[in-house]
Amino acid sequence: MSINKNISQSKKDKKNILKEIFQDSAEVDYSTFINFALYNKNYGFYSNKKRMMLADFITSPLTHKSFGIMVAKQIIQMWDYYKNPKHFSIIELGGSTGKLKDDIVSYIKKYNRKFYRCLIYLNIDEANNDSLLNVDFNSKYGCIISNEFFDALPFDRFQKKGGDLKEIFIKKGKENNLKEVLKDTDKTNILEKKFIRKIPEKSRIEITNNLKIICRKLSTFLDHCIMLTIDYGFEDLDYLLINNPNGLVRCFEGHNMDKDVLINIGNKDITCDVNFFFLDQYLESAGFKKLGFCLQEKFLQNMGIANYFNSTKNPIEKQQIVSLMNPDGLGGFKVYFHELGTENFEPQGLN
Ligand SMILES: C[S@@+](CC[C@H](N)C(=O)[O-])C[C@H]1O[C@@H](n2cnc3c(N)ncnc32)[C@H](O)[C@@H]1O
Repeated sequence: MSINKNISQSKKDKKNILKEIFQDSAEVDYSTFINFALYNKNYGFYSNKKRMMLADFITSPLTHKSFGIMVAKQIIQMWDYYKNPKHFSIIELGGSTGKLKDDIVSYIKKYNRKFYRCLIYLNIDEANNDSLLNVDFNSKYGCIISNEFFDALPFDRFQKKGGDLKEIFIKKGKENNLKEVLKDTDKTNILEKKFIRKIPEKSRIEITNNLKIICRKLSTFLDHCIMLTIDYGFEDLDYLLINNPNGLVRCFEGHNMDKDVLINIGNKDITCDVNFFFLDQYLESAGFKKLGFCLQEKFLQNMGIANYFNSTKNPIEKQQIVSLMNPDGLGGFKVYFHELGTENFEPQGLN
């Protein structure tokens, strides 16, 4: 994702923001801070209307509609796999303003009227005032899809110090300056002690907040479900053993990428590589089974994007489709499949 406008923050704005973040405590953990910086109704990046009008996001659905069309084709295969049930729910996580939804539904409406009449579509997005953990929905058949949802979840941060992983908290000083402090924590229990020992001294890692609870919640929506997750990140935990004093955080503001979460609060996006190892573990403990994964480039190829590309005459559109495939950009994203309920699905996108 990238954003192409830069909005600076006045001292007064900063003071008001910090007052709210630290209203209950002089210190907060990173996930509390990031949750505020991204999703606070008045100041959060995703709620800030002024910024939203000026900002320019680039994600796959926004790059070109062929992305949504390929996902739609994959979903049609799921509906066929379940033997064309009368009701099929597509639950999209973090679908923002609904671009992916529009592309998927338009394609299905045009090319599969029978399926279209069976569709229920839920776009659950925090920025639209939806609270995922409070969504009360259950149906028999369907899928859960997401693009760049898990990388946008607030995370906590940890640093190796004196042989142990300490949690990093943020403390507000008298002059509204922010300082990091390290504290003992039990939030790293998911990692084995012998693994923690191998993390280089001073290196930082991030752990998504609430991921286990979110995965458990996802398992309650549908009795039979394929989950299609598209995001950037890593699956091999050894990735955390690379000496990384700044961790895997990325902030996007204007054309710039930086790693400083603590400045210009609310005016920049804050994301982090998805730890697919943890995601997979939590999904499995919630009853999902991993079917496999591939790169977005391969997924789109498998779904037939070449035919779409060849049938398109417009050179700009052709360029947009190419950027969906770029292995150094969106094409390098991971496409994961999980299944709940039956465990026999063979996704076309993987084969
Ligand atoms: C990086 S944006 C991706 C938007 C869209 N999927 C796309 O690809 O263009 C992440 C989206 O996830 C949403 N989000 C983050 N945390 C969420 C949560 N706990 N529940 C629902 N939506 C959430 C954000 O509001 C935001 O719209």
